[in-house]
Amino acid sequence: MNVIPVQNRRRFLRDATLLGGGFGVAPFLRAADPAKKYRTALIGCGWWGKNILKEAIASGSVKVVALCDVGANIREVAAEQVTDLNGDQPKSYNDYREMLEKEKPEIVIIATPDHWHALQTIAAVKAGAHVFVEKPTGHTVNESRAMLHAARDSGRVVQVGLHRRIGPHHVSGMNFLKSGAVGDVGMVRIFAHGGGGREKPSRNTDVPPGMDWDLWCGPAPKRAFNPKLHPGGWRQFLDYGNGQLGDWGVHWLDQVLLWSGEKYPRRVFSTGGRPVAGPAVNSATEQTTDAPDHQVAVYDFDGFTCVWEHRRFAENNAEKHGVGAYFYGTKGTLHIGWRDGWTFHPSDRNAPVVHEDSQLQEPDGHNLKLLWADFMASITEGKKAVAAIEIAHRSSVLPLLGMISLRTGRSLQWDGDREQIVGDPEASKLLSRPYRDGWVYPA
Ligand SMILES: NC(=O)c1ccc[n+]([C@@H]2O[C@H](COP(=O)([O-])OP(=O)(O)OC[C@H]3O[C@@H](n4cnc5c(N)ncnc54)[C@H](O)[C@@H]3O)[C@@H](O)[C@H]2O)c1
Repeated sequence: MNVIPVQNRRRFLRDATLLGGGFGVAPFLRAADPAKKYRTALIGCGWWGKNILKEAIASGSVKVVALCDVGANIREVAAEQVTDLNGDQPKSYNDYREMLEKEKPEIVIIATPDHWHALQTIAAVKAGAHVFVEKPTGHTVNESRAMLHAARDSGRVVQVGLHRRIGPHHVSGMNFLKSGAVGDVGMVRIFAHGGGGREKPSRNTDVPPGMDWDLWCGPAPKRAFNPKLHPGGWRQFLDYGNGQLGDWGVHWLDQVLLWSGEKYPRRVFSTGGRPVAGPAVNSATEQTTDAPDHQVAVYDFDGFTCVWEHRRFAENNAEKHGVGAYFYGTKGTLHIGWRDGWTFHPSDRNAPVVHEDSQLQEPDGHNLKLLWADFMASITEGKKAVAAIEIAHRSSVLPLLGMISLRTGRSLQWDGDREQIVGDPEASKLLSRPYRDGWVYPA
């Protein structure tokens, strides 16, 4: 997302209390054996990691045994919050490898920047843990494949944070589409727009005290520390994230796969750039982001076309919705959005507009409570997780292919069964990337 709200400690506690805190929990959120508390560790204790942990604690199904982050202050704040919520006194770790070895957690939550998801998920399932990892699965396609294979080999549950798969207004919007009420859908437009303009470089600074910046960068290229990068801003730096398409696009591409039942497109083409933000800067003294300030990606599926658009400038009142998906059908257009729920605009102008409000957990507008309950049900009852790694891998591949097309400037033919780009060795190379010395790309 564009704007990363700073997690306010009081708000965290208040919301957790409203949700049931660590004690009074809605019965349907409990694991099958309510007495069982899974030994749980969080890797990446930033904004979103704390949101997930809050829901995990509220479910009553976890004992928080470890918090791992490369920032000592970040770990401290998170530890205090956990103790306030349910009395647990988790151990604090800088390095996830040491944490996995010493604590042997049964559940690991991973909410680090995207360039870490693969290595940490693979290490966690190999250590025997069930994993709740954030989207997109990998920073490159072959990382995501390696996660999928490691998860399958381990037999552990791996749930990915695509909470829109289970969010009530998304589910009912999907049911509305599948009922035929929108008619034959030939085109889908998905988008996430925001404001912005020319980008001024920010000065590099010393690494904040207590932060292991080398381990933050890990397998990715090591940049100088810059407050624009951490926390949260890494999304718009292509060494660590994949811009708006990787961050937001994955949610809406996932909805397109959910609606259509398709597994992959035949062809992907993307274009975009930084005409407004200006050239990317990465010098010894200052940096800008380097992700595109706008981008269009076209996904050519059997039977329909899907177009992604984002723009980080020209916020306006002319376009009604800033985020979401329009499904264009022969009977009208369905918009599924975020806080604005879903709305069907019939082609017959005399027919009534149909609308359903969103149902989200605030302040951050998500459905992690339901996704966590589904994760626990997968562990305790063996049911298939709603955003299992097999599903989320397919959704995550789509933005990553869009980014390869943007980099090469070419349309990609995608063999989704073999997960290979056809007839383009240069683009195929970008399915993986070199790792920094000391780190091994997952096979
Ligand atoms: N599903 C959703 O709707 C949703 C919403 C927001 C964020 N997210 C995802 O959550 C993840 C985290 O996002 P965020 O906004 O909280 O970012 P953030 O930058 O606020 O937090 C990431 C944390 O990871 C830590 N970290 C970095 N390298 C580490 C390492 N090697 N070991 C341990 N900790 C390390 C950082 O110090 C930081 O505290 C991202 O993958 C993001 O895409 C998902």
